[in-house]
Amino acid sequence: MDGAELRGLMGHFATGVCVLTTDSPSGPYGITVNSLTSLSLQPPLVLFCLDHQVGGFALFQPGVHVGLNVLTNRQSEISRVFARRGVADRFRGVPWREGPHKVPLLGDTLAVLVCQVEATHPGGDHTIFVARVEQGWRDAEAHPLLFYRGSYRTLGQPLDTRGGDAAAPSAAEVAPAVDAAVDAAGAPGLGNLQS
Ligand SMILES: Cc1cc2nc3c(=O)[nH]c(=O)nc-3n(C[C@H](O)[C@H](O)[C@H](O)COP(=O)(O)O)c2cc1C
Repeated sequence: MDGAELRGLMGHFATGVCVLTTDSPSGPYGITVNSLTSLSLQPPLVLFCLDHQVGGFALFQPGVHVGLNVLTNRQSEISRVFARRGVADRFRGVPWREGPHKVPLLGDTLAVLVCQVEATHPGGDHTIFVARVEQGWRDAEAHPLLFYRGSYRTLGQPLDTRGGDAAAPSAAEVAPAVDAAVDAAGAPGLGNLQS
């Protein structure tokens, strides 16, 4: 199967959308990814995959801290900006602040994971990065940005009301805890999580 056909096939697998961020000697770097996958609960691991052609590829070494900024359905333009080649400063005009380990954290996101890259594995023309989740915050009231068949979407109606994330705290409950956690890490708070 060729790459274009596989891309079209995998486009039928709906995903969320993240901006993967890290600090670099030339300032914050970020790139849109939808390869984020939950990997392990004990220890808490996630994985993401990067194309070897990605401009900031060399930044993502074991030991480096990264942010996985999960976008809301109001942030499709941010996803476009961070997926566009040749943009001099993708952070320009985008609200963000420095989080723990100088990880750039975008404002008004659905959730944030602050992780440390632990290992890399070969994956064809991509590399698989395994990262340990150190901290995370979420906004229970925002709605996710989805990527499906090459376009951005938002969630429809739930199919049933059983299970799910009913116990998740509200944004108003989460925001002070987020601010305290980020303050404790020596960074400015995430007021953005207040709706
Ligand atoms: C929805 C979406 C998801 C993407 N996911 C990934 C991904 O998981 N890994 C990857 O390497 N590129 C992914 N890309 C492509 C990169 O965002 C894009 O190639 C980016 O411009 C590369 O950054 P660079 O210009 O710094 O090389 C995705 C793009 C979009 C629009």
